[in-house]
Parts: sequence; C-alpha cells; structure tokens
Amino acid sequence: MCGIIGVIGNEPAAPQLIDALKRLEYRGYDSAGVATLEAGKLTRRRAEGKLKNLEARLAREPLKGTIGIGHTRWATHGRPTENNAHPHATDRVAVVHNGIIENFAELRRELEGNGAKFSTETDTEVIAHLVTDAMKRGASAADAVKAALPRLRGAFALAFLFAGEEDLLIGARRGSPLAVGFGDGSMYVGSDAIALAPFTDTVSYLEDGDWVIVTRKGAQIHDTDGKIVQRAKLKSQASVLLIDKGNHRHFMAKEIFEQPEVVGHTLAHYLDMTAERVVLSKGLTAPLPFDFKKLDRISIAACGTAYYAGSVARYWFEQFAHLPVEVDIASEFRYRDVPLGNGNLAIFVSQSGETADTLASLRYARAHRQHVLSVVNVPTSSIARESDVVMPTLAGPEIGVASTKAFTCQLAALAALAIAAGRARGVLGEADEKALVRALIEMPRHLNDALTLEPQIEVIARDLAKCRDVLYLGRGTSFPLALEGALKLKEISYIHAEGYAAGELKHGPIALIDENMPVIVIAPFDKVFEKTVSNMQEVAARGGRLILMTDAKGASAAAGQTAETIVLPTVHSAVAPLVYAVPAQLLAYHTAVIMGTDVDQPRNLAKSVTVE
Ligand code: G6P
Repeated sequence: MCGIIGVIGNEPAAPQLIDALKRLEYRGYDSAGVATLEAGKLTRRRAEGKLKNLEARLAREPLKGTIGIGHTRWATHGRPTENNAHPHATDRVAVVHNGIIENFAELRRELEGNGAKFSTETDTEVIAHLVTDAMKRGASAADAVKAALPRLRGAFALAFLFAGEEDLLIGARRGSPLAVGFGDGSMYVGSDAIALAPFTDTVSYLEDGDWVIVTRKGAQIHDTDGKIVQRAKLKSQASVLLIDKGNHRHFMAKEIFEQPEVVGHTLAHYLDMTAERVVLSKGLTAPLPFDFKKLDRISIAACGTAYYAGSVARYWFEQFAHLPVEVDIASEFRYRDVPLGNGNLAIFVSQSGETADTLASLRYARAHRQHVLSVVNVPTSSIARESDVVMPTLAGPEIGVASTKAFTCQLAALAALAIAAGRARGVLGEADEKALVRALIEMPRHLNDALTLEPQIEVIARDLAKCRDVLYLGRGTSFPLALEGALKLKEISYIHAEGYAAGELKHGPIALIDENMPVIVIAPFDKVFEKTVSNMQEVAARGGRLILMTDAKGASAAAGQTAETIVLPTVHSAVAPLVYAVPAQLLAYHTAVIMGTDVDQPRNLAKSVTVE
C-alpha cells in the first residue's frame, strides 16, 4: 500500500513533497518520510505517525534540495517506527515503495552474504541494496535499476533518487499504479494524479512492467523488455484543491450528508428521469460488450464495503433478471478455481479502483474469458483502465477511510444495471421498470429524510459506546446491510461487531445474547419482516437489547418489543438498502465520536489497499 511521490524542479522539493503526501494520506498514514539531495548527498527526514509529525520535523530541520522523493506508509513488513519509515537508503540511492516484495527474505540473505548491512525490518530495504550492489560493480543508476527490477517478485511501484544525480529520478511500476507528471521545467512521479494535481494536469500512466527515467526535461519510458515506449499524455481532472470538511467535524460526517446529492448524480447518469427508464448508455464508458440474454451467470468480486454492495446486487440480479450470481470476496475469487463458463459477465466493484485483490480478480476473470465490467469511483484507476466497460459512480472524492457515500452510489449504479438486465431478459416489463426507476428517483429525498434521524441516533450511540460487542441482524438484502453496519462500527469505534443473517441467529450467535448485548435489527416492512420479528423475539426472550431499524408499518407491528426503534421513510422494498445504510453509518459514526477515536483515519486501516 502506501503513497509515493517524486519531484524534480527548481524550487525546494520538500514543501511540494509534503503537499503531495497530504493528498496520498488516504493510502496509509502510520509514518512518512522524504529524501532530497543536499550538496549532492542523500538527506532524509522521517517521522513516526501522522504526516504532521514529519511536517514539524521539517520545520525544525528544513531541506533545501530541489529534487526529492516522499512516502506515506501503511506498514506491511516491520512496525511503523521512524526507522522503518521510507525512504530507505544507502549512501548511493534512496527508494520509496508501494507494495510488497515477496522474495525479500531470500534477497536479503544473498545481499548480506555480499556484505550489505541492513538497518530496518522492511522488505523495501533490499531494493536499495540491490541497486547499490549493481552500482558498486560499475553500473549507471539506470542500468542498476534495470538489473534490479527483474529480481523482485511481487507487486510494487517505486521511485528512486541517487546521490550526486541532481537531474535524475527513476520510477517503476509492476502491479501498483504510478503516474508521471509533466510540468514546466519540472517533472513528477506519483501514485496517482490527485497527488500531482497542484503541480500539473498533464500525466501519463505507466503500464504494468514499465519503468521511467525522469529528468527536468522530460521522461523516457521503457517497457519490461527495455524498449523505449510512448504512453499517452492525458489531461487529469483531479482537483487542485485539498478537499475540506465543510461545516462538519469529520470527512466521514460530510460524506454521509453528501449522499442525497451524490446518489442523485449517480442515478441521473444512468436513468432517464422523465421517461422513467434505465438508459445505461448515458453513463457507461463504452457500449455493453455482451447481451444480458446470452449470459448464464454473473460473478461479482470486491473487498470490504464494496463487497457488501455486490452482495446486495446479487439479490437484485437474481430477482429482477433471474440471473444466477456468485459474489466473492476478491481475495478468495481467483484462488477458488471457479468454473466461469466462456463469455459470461464478471463485475468488479471498487471505490478506489486500485484494490490489489480486486484488480487481480479482474485479471483472472479476463484470462478466463469473462466480459469485465467495473463499478468504480475513480475513473482513471487501474481497475477502470483494465475493464471492458466502466460504470462510474459519481460519489466524488471519498476521504474518510470507512466508506459511506461510495457504498450508496455503488448500490445506485448496480440497481440500474440489474434493472437493465431484467428488462433485457424479459423478466421485468415496462411497468416494473417504471416502478423501480420511480423508487430510485425518490431516493435522494428519502436519504435526506433518513439523515434527519441523526439526533435520535446520537442518543442511541451513547449507549452503544459502552458496549463490548454488538450484533447486527437482517434478512434478504438487509443481510449484507447488517454485515456492512457491523463493519462500519468495528472499523471506526473498535467495538467488536458481527453481522448475521437473522435466520442463522439460532445456529450459534444466540449463545452470546444476554442483557449486555445490543442487537441491531435491520428490517423494513417487507415480505421477510414477519420472519425477522420471530428472530427478534428469540433475542428479547433472552434479555437482549433490541434496536430496530424499520419503517412506519414495521414500527407499529413490532411496537413494545424493542428498546429503541429508528423509523425510516417507507420506500419500495427493492431499494431499501440505500436508505437503511444511512442509520447504520450514523450509528457507527456517533459511537466512534463519543469514544474519541480517529474517525477519518482509524488505526491500522487505509483507504486504498494496494497489497494482497
Ligand atoms: C479498504 C477500505 C474500505 C473499502 C475497501 C475496498 O478496506 O478501508 O472502506 O471498502 O478497502 O476498497 P475499494 O477502494 O476497492 O472499494
């Protein structure tokens, strides 16, 4: 994981490196560091913890060099200490790294055998020593990197800075993304275009296996075979402004409250609101390369919250289009040897579009002759670029590590896709489509109404903050939502939470229930409501504290049985997950705020997980 940046210009590099690292903090934030050349000598400043610690360090001990590299870390190998923070360096070369070097132990043994002295617990340090080793044997900087790259196993993006080389940075990409930025007399490399946005809007993305020699005059890109190649120069749309929190205390709160608007944008991208029809061609990046009628099945793979969006969509594709769907956690999908059948559809859902497991699953699906469609929030991401067709979600930048608005936008896009599939396969008629589209069009209003429940939810959160464990239950599409509710709570409040299918309660989790155990039941008044109420009674009979999220009809049917009832707007049952996501998010948010945790950057997590 981690974010990397490199700068060659005519002004001191350190402030630019810090500016870029702020934009990359979503990729990790347990330590950070920069390196520049001071009179030709590699000079580093590194600090444990958040970027502000590194900034403070640089204020005390400034760097003047006009060339440099920087890194914000999410630890994989070695604790998040200052010593393990990047850049890693010898006296010849400094390197920043995003990803994992799988054969680092073997390389380290070999290099130590040749006399190299290691000073960190990281996998990255082997890269610095490998390059140094080649340079000691007389190789130029570029030849040393060229020789080192094929020796590394794993997925990575790298940026190198060399002692005595005032006009040279080298970048390399295998698996993890790397962009080259073209300025006026200055050049950049970085993990994404957002990092480079303040400096340039002209970028080229390295392709897998590429490496690049960057000087103030430009960039020379080489492919895996060492051939010089041209990669398209694109105009990046990334915003120069660092996104702010508006009137909110946290990005997460701002993003929860943006949902009516961004879900509306996403829906408008795929719906003809006047005709009450789904018109995918309005928003897709290419025509669908397959016919829904000819599909036997759909595979969906994703991670974290995006996986739960996929899990909700499974019910929709099965119900609206009678298409069997398999949903997998991406890290399982490609190792399961799933018989996919030629020419079927594989859908990948991802906010960042960079999640390593999801990207690897996409490549697996492509190798197994699937049509590849992705639902992504970052249109320039690796997953977007490697898909046959992209369904962008228009959530805007999501900064809070715990995903909120990206989730509801993913649901909005997937709902439109499932309706289109249902129409194409003749399962849904025109009237069914109109009814569903109307329900979606009303969604921004219902989301607004759901947000007005915040004061009640804040009061419930005060109790929840005292608990050690919490159980979430749901049936049908409310089951993946129960999983998502539990994930939100544990991610940001660190309270242990589990989501269960309501009917599965009696097969195990019921043993946990006593008067100290809050049980949050997500149950709109739909065709499975009665069944869920029976499960609620099983909880009540054992003294469990019930918190019910339902609508007006559900609330009156369950009157007297719950400790708390959160009454949501009445919506078409098919699209209820979008609305019920809101109280689940708000409950997690307020519990975390009361507990005083770092809501936007919870411990041990990162926004974009670019390691397997
Ligand atoms: C991380 C984030 C989650 C996110 C997951 C998948 O774990 O903390 O919020 O759901 O990655 O990320 P993606 O960018 O692929 O949606």
